[in-house]
Amino acid sequence: MHRPRRNRQSPAIRSMVRETTLDPANFILPMFLHEDAVDTPIDSMPGVTRWSLDSLVREAGEAHALGIPAVVLFPKIEETLKSPQAAEACHGGGLVPRAIRALKAAHPTLCVITDVALDPYNSDGHDGIVRRDARGGLTILNDETVDVLCQQAICHARAGADIVAPSDMMDGRVAAIRDALDAEDFTGVLIMSYTAKYASAFYGPFRGALDSAPKEGDKKTYQMDPANTREAVRETLLDESEGADMLMVKPAGPYLDVIARVRATTTLPVAAYQVSGEYLMLKSAAAGGWLDERAIVLESLMAIKRAGASMILTYFARQAACWLRDD
Ligand code: PBG
Repeated sequence: MHRPRRNRQSPAIRSMVRETTLDPANFILPMFLHEDAVDTPIDSMPGVTRWSLDSLVREAGEAHALGIPAVVLFPKIEETLKSPQAAEACHGGGLVPRAIRALKAAHPTLCVITDVALDPYNSDGHDGIVRRDARGGLTILNDETVDVLCQQAICHARAGADIVAPSDMMDGRVAAIRDALDAEDFTGVLIMSYTAKYASAFYGPFRGALDSAPKEGDKKTYQMDPANTREAVRETLLDESEGADMLMVKPAGPYLDVIARVRATTTLPVAAYQVSGEYLMLKSAAAGGWLDERAIVLESLMAIKRAGASMILTYFARQAACWLRDD
């Protein structure tokens, strides 16, 4: 008789046959920042804070000391700096470039990743530049947006970003950003592409954190339809051929099949983003005493890794790193 249970009989045996392991080195911590000198707890994401520049540097250092190699920055931009052309996205003295410089000066070994998209800077709240037709219909302009994204990526690279992460889902942006970076001699700056980013309701709490929800319409003409997975393969092949260094799937937990499919399609490293709504679901169930937070968070991260993600962007990065260290 076959007895698979023999391989599960003790912690020692289980540890030998374990197929997937979690390590703080797998985590990337998303961090929110703003221009204010005070830190603000984010209502829509209990336990997550929007940091001042000084606090951002301190907190990133603490995360790095726990073994987390990278952070990704999400700025809240003041309303007065937002415009239809999102010019602030490319301003060398802006909040993100200043944060990159401060982080790299304080923590040279920390990998700094930036989000390349226009939504925090765009008065329309879309990831790209919006055109309105006579009847009030909205079009998100692809090629015009890609030009701005290239300038934004160069602006981040000049400030010292290690990786730029285009999250906008415009067509052709990976190749255009690669060319733009190379032309400025930033051949060593990596591109982590949001390859399969779905038009997901799981981003709701994040948009609350940054006041970055679209003022009109939705993101379905550029973010992917949650019903599709072959389309993720198409995006994977394109991003790979356009020169991306790392590919990302987002959200993560509800899209494990997509992670596995992207993993099987590419030889590039795959990342997955456990987004704000996933965070909020686990956090609120734990706060209600209905789920064991440590167990459920580590299981959710393990599942994402098992599906094929080597890197996980997660708001639980620091907490999970502590739990793994104390194991
Ligand atoms: C914007 C961006 C979003 C997230 C990361 N970058 C929101 C969106 O596309 O509307 C969501 C992250 C999260 O929900 O945690 N380019």
